[in-house]
Amino acid sequence: MISINPFLTLADSVPPILMQSFVVLMVLLILVGTLIDTIHKKNVKYFFKNAKKAKLSATKKLSTGEKISVISKTIASDIATTSELGAGKRRVAHVMGMYGTILFWVGSVVMIFFYTSPGSETPSVWPIIWHLGAALTVVGGSWFWFFLRVDVYSEAQPWYRIIQADLFVLALIASSLFGLIWSYLQSLNLQGRWDDVVFLALFIAANLVLFGGIYWSKFAHMFYKPGAAIQKNLAEADGSRDNLPPEADAPAQFGLGIKREEPKHY
Ligand code: HEM
Repeated sequence: MISINPFLTLADSVPPILMQSFVVLMVLLILVGTLIDTIHKKNVKYFFKNAKKAKLSATKKLSTGEKISVISKTIASDIATTSELGAGKRRVAHVMGMYGTILFWVGSVVMIFFYTSPGSETPSVWPIIWHLGAALTVVGGSWFWFFLRVDVYSEAQPWYRIIQADLFVLALIASSLFGLIWSYLQSLNLQGRWDDVVFLALFIAANLVLFGGIYWSKFAHMFYKPGAAIQKNLAEADGSRDNLPPEADAPAQFGLGIKREEPKHY
């Protein structure tokens, strides 16, 4: 199963152009959903206004080379390894989900657009990337949702409590999980059975929820967060610090009580 391109098998019954149109529709939903989200939240407008205001209190003018260096470091650390989440499980789970999703999406696009025409041979690396990406997303996403969500981890809410904020992570896990199950059932070649079609329908529905629900979900953080990290680090380097006061130059003295429990009540 892991080295079979599930979209090529599907192409026996569904024309490749239909699959390709579905991907194009998902991309359009990302663009429209993110645009409406930014208009509604006014976050991008605030972001640029704030960056302009902070620039006035800069103590140093950064050269182009310095800016490139700050941006490269931000990409390599803040963005590529989600360093904002510190060392620990939260970061590991996020990195698994993030890279899993990227592999899953890249694998889907490559296989759907280049390897679904009749008689085409898919290099096995692509189905492997797709299945591995889906598995990583399911593991990282489930780890986060069952054990690390702030309302469960820190606020003692039951794990089965579902709120709107869970829309993104649950739709993400569902699309990868249903994709995996569909690919597995399809690879069994169960003649005259409907099992794989049910999971294909669930896979499609999960994608429609994931990409169609951007306005209501946390999907767009994957675009906002990198922008915010670059702005924060540039503001650090030019001394404006987003108009925040400088860090105190004094030893941290919290007493021994601080060691009694790991800080997790946000
Ligand atoms: C393909 C890209 C990405 C995917 C699939 C992804 C996935 C996720 C998921 C599923 C969550 C949990 C959402 C929730 O609170 O319910 C999350 C949270 C988060 N993401 Fe991402 N993410 C991506 C990119 C990024 C990037 C580029 C950054 C930072 C530069 C980032 C930073 C964060 C942070 C700080 C949280 C909050 C984590 C927490 O509450 O513990 N993400 N992400």
